[in-house]
Amino acid sequence: MKKVRVTAWNGSYDINIGDGIYKLLASDVSVAVHNSSAFVVADRNLPAELVSEVRSALEGAGVEHHINTISASEKLKTLASYEELCAWLLENDAERTSAVIALGGGIIGDISGFVASTFPRGIPFFQVPTTLLSMVDASVGGKVAVNLRGAKNIVGSFYQPSGVYASPQSLHSLDRRQVSCGLAECIKHGIIGDRALFDWTVGNLEKFFGGDDDYLTELVYRNVAFKAKIVGEDATELSVRAWLNLGHTFGHAIEKLDVDKTLFHGEAVSIGTIAAAKLAATRGTLPEASLSIIESAFSGAGLPIRLSAGFDTSSLVREMKRDKKSAHKKLRIILPRSIGSVEIRDDCSDAELADAFAYVIHGVR
Ligand SMILES: NC(=O)c1ccc[n+]([C@@H]2O[C@H](COP(=O)([O-])OP(=O)(O)OC[C@H]3O[C@@H](n4cnc5c(N)ncnc54)[C@H](O)[C@@H]3O)[C@@H](O)[C@H]2O)c1
Ligand SMILES: [Zn+2]
Repeated sequence: MKKVRVTAWNGSYDINIGDGIYKLLASDVSVAVHNSSAFVVADRNLPAELVSEVRSALEGAGVEHHINTISASEKLKTLASYEELCAWLLENDAERTSAVIALGGGIIGDISGFVASTFPRGIPFFQVPTTLLSMVDASVGGKVAVNLRGAKNIVGSFYQPSGVYASPQSLHSLDRRQVSCGLAECIKHGIIGDRALFDWTVGNLEKFFGGDDDYLTELVYRNVAFKAKIVGEDATELSVRAWLNLGHTFGHAIEKLDVDKTLFHGEAVSIGTIAAAKLAATRGTLPEASLSIIESAFSGAGLPIRLSAGFDTSSLVREMKRDKKSAHKKLRIILPRSIGSVEIRDDCSDAELADAFAYVIHGVR
């Protein structure tokens, strides 16, 4: 078992990674809830055995619990679903010493975390991430939220969990495409600030896809340690934490204009990071050779590196400038300087952005 301590301005907790981790979850929950109950929000798509494993661990520790199985869909990450979950807690006499356990990917984590942060003004929240993306990304930082009228994660809060419990075995049932999406964030971490992590990730893709638990444990461990360090240094996204947005400002514009939702988030981040790298390479602040290495890394991890021709560069640029991360009217963009370092720029012109998008649409150098 491996453990990473996350220290944030509003709380600290451990991320525990390894097989058989649910016993630890159950014993930690039993301490938190005293004589009260735990409320498990579980993803409907999880294999029945995984849910039973968590249930038997809770039973073994004598934790009384209720379970609510819901569909993890971005369309259901709404205030209406939030209200339903709160009503479920109310009907089952949840109290201050009750706890919420999120059992699923980032969608389940975000919505149940938001419930835990507000009902009744906050109860302990335990996270059991079951996708690679939610293990390496959503389990660090304490962001919980729901969507509103097409605006993603617009209503929410910063609420640290009491603990995170990631079992590499739970990833065995995950689609290959979802594993790739988690790897997109891992490759992004390497580009932002850890060349060794980048090389190690790219060199062990077969182990991850093959479901090697030791390698998956190490992958989650290295990435949460990386993100925890950044979040610990800067809670508010003003400086180093903004680095984590590499590829995301381009990526969000792509996701917004992908009306048929053909791309997953990690896929948009892959293409978005390549657009950022291309912009930097054209400026001469990133070596051309690094752009090629970055492209091969994402594509080797099963991620798309080009957009379909249906996308239009000027609409993408317009959408990008609407992004909420644009501070003081100037768009802040994270550009790689090497594989292992980035810079925050607010001087990218519309023409540069358009060229970068044109590159990922047409592949023109
Ligand atoms: N809070 C944060 O810091 C943070 C960070 C990144 C992403 N997010 C949010 O997370 C969401 C995306 O998370 P995600 O990629 O985990 O998506 P997700 O929760 O939708 O899960 C992806 C798919 O995998 C299925 N699934 C989950 N675990 C499984 C398993 N073990 N076996 C088989 N299928 C399984 C789900 O049912 C779903 O269909 C977005 O809403 C995003 O906004 C939050
Ligand atoms: Zn992301």
